[in-house]
Amino acid sequence: MVESIDQIRAAALKEIDTATTVDAVQDINTRYLGRKGLMTQALRAVSQLPADDRPAAGRKANEVKQAIAAACLAALERIERDGADQSAGIDVSLPGRKTAPGSRHPITLITTRICDIFTRMGFEVVEGPEVESDYYNFEALNIPKDHPARDMQDTFYVSDDIVLRTHTSPTQPRVMEKRQPPVRIIAPGKVYRCDSDITHTPMFHQVEGLLVDENVSFGDLKGTLTSFVHQMFDTQTRVRFRPSFFPFTEPSAEVDILCVICRGKGCRVCSQTGWLEILGSGMVHPAVLENVGYDTARYTGFAFGMGVERIAMLKYGIDDIRRYYENDIRFLRQF
Ligand code: FA5
Ligand code: MG
Repeated sequence: MVESIDQIRAAALKEIDTATTVDAVQDINTRYLGRKGLMTQALRAVSQLPADDRPAAGRKANEVKQAIAAACLAALERIERDGADQSAGIDVSLPGRKTAPGSRHPITLITTRICDIFTRMGFEVVEGPEVESDYYNFEALNIPKDHPARDMQDTFYVSDDIVLRTHTSPTQPRVMEKRQPPVRIIAPGKVYRCDSDITHTPMFHQVEGLLVDENVSFGDLKGTLTSFVHQMFDTQTRVRFRPSFFPFTEPSAEVDILCVICRGKGCRVCSQTGWLEILGSGMVHPAVLENVGYDTARYTGFAFGMGVERIAMLKYGIDDIRRYYENDIRFLRQF
């Protein structure tokens, strides 16, 4: 009996010595000292011994029990001190967490690039409000109430007379009201439409452009925008001016770029047409100039509004506009 208690002690202390986790020590503690543990059984066996042997055997068993318990406690302290317990505590051997350096959003990068190109051509950057009055978003731009053209842009109304601007064009009358020609401005910013698919998001960015002066012709519009495309992409990039309609320009044209995703073959991004529309443009309608009190006999101008997300899609070969706003770090990290 005494011998076997010594064997139990030796086995227990050996196990405790090599334990490296809190869980392992707790497991040893249960196996030796628990209700069905080896030492508990050994103590019970003492009562079966002849009366003479019982006191010594009982003392011995209690000593061993206490020794195992003390060894378990010491082992727990050792594990905590070493920090080597990988199952429960903190693993001090793990590498630290890195703070990733931030980077600019692709839309910010492209907006800055667009502004740089036009600034070099003599345009000044201005900004207008995103919550806009019906007057500047529509009326001043020759889009009266009940005009069918209001259906072209699915408007978010804040109230009867206040909207989330559907385009950056309201900056045109806002600037012209305050200045006399020559006017040469670009206005970047957010715009809102009730619209969502692979080439449309409910919030997107436009850059408006406006140039009003004496003798401004459609040739100036074409030259300026073609030069912009060549600087933004490269001089080989194919551009197409397509007749279109806007109430605030006459004549009007939309500008398409050969789809870089499929190189003109037709894909889901360009709706199988081979071209992607990047902007609307035209000669400023005389009614818009009259609304701000300009002399339409003396001044003419051109204006354009481009979609920043579309330009960024073409520039970076992105095939779904919604990627910009999903906040996926793996996507955003690439720019
Ligand atoms: C306009 O918004 C006119 N204000 C543009 C304009 C300005 C014409 C000045 C004439 C003179 P349009 O609705 O076509 O036009 O939008 C202009 C560009 O914004 C489009 O060519 C496209 O590149 C982009 N765009 C339009 N809707 C969305 C959308 N939901 N998501 C992303 N980009 C869009
Ligand atoms: Mg359009």
